[in-house]
Amino acid sequence: MIATRLHPDKQTAAQAIAREIADLIEIRSKSGKSTVLGLATGSTPLPLYAELIRLHREAGVSFRTVITFNLDEYEGLGPTHPQSYRFFMEENLFRHLDIPAANIHIPDGLANDPAKNCADFEAAIRDAGGIDLQILGIGRTGHIGFNEPPSAADSRTRRVHLDEVTRRDNSVFFGDLDQVPHGALTMGVATILEARRIELIAFGEAKAEIVRRAMQEAPSPSCPATWLQQHPGCTFHLDAAAAKAL
Ligand code: F6R
Repeated sequence: MIATRLHPDKQTAAQAIAREIADLIEIRSKSGKSTVLGLATGSTPLPLYAELIRLHREAGVSFRTVITFNLDEYEGLGPTHPQSYRFFMEENLFRHLDIPAANIHIPDGLANDPAKNCADFEAAIRDAGGIDLQILGIGRTGHIGFNEPPSAADSRTRRVHLDEVTRRDNSVFFGDLDQVPHGALTMGVATILEARRIELIAFGEAKAEIVRRAMQEAPSPSCPATWLQQHPGCTFHLDAAAAKAL
């Protein structure tokens, strides 16, 4: 069962989720525990990251006890490539916080042995005690992370082929479709479903139909976001445009 939370605008959604994250960090660090966050890239979480940076700067929220795992990375792009997700995360979040570099985990798009990199990534999540809170966006194909259709509920972190719809949608960031990689490394559906809490964010009318399918279609590999219906603690944070088809 997916819960929905309607927000008047992106900023209000960002404030609500950032507050939830800050509260979680505070509660856990009081009892000496780290907080494990699963993070997404793309345009949707940008207001959330701006708000987390504001809470760090203006409200003294510390990220020293936070461990992060990003959902995915383009194959073939290294940390200095401006479109790599490592670069995106450094620019839009990490370099503005006090999170220790050793606590940051992102699949390695340049790994010589991608299967080993993916297995090590899964092991690192287990070693950290599992993900406490996972942030997700949703692609128009129904992907979460880069789990394109078809993606099974038991899929794990692995190398995937990007859907042409996704390559076209993401070409706005690259300026040219030919520059968009064809492959990626992504956390699997099962990996995502093991997070204790999941907050999916979707804004704008372009997401309305896929949000409806994710919430209302029977769970199946052909719309991977439908697997979220099987999670006991998943909330969709929507603006009115993204909730339009519900
Ligand atoms: C990003 C990711 C993707 C995006 C999705 C939506 O790390 O895993 O699933 O969340 O493609 O992208 P935006 O937010 O740009 O619409």
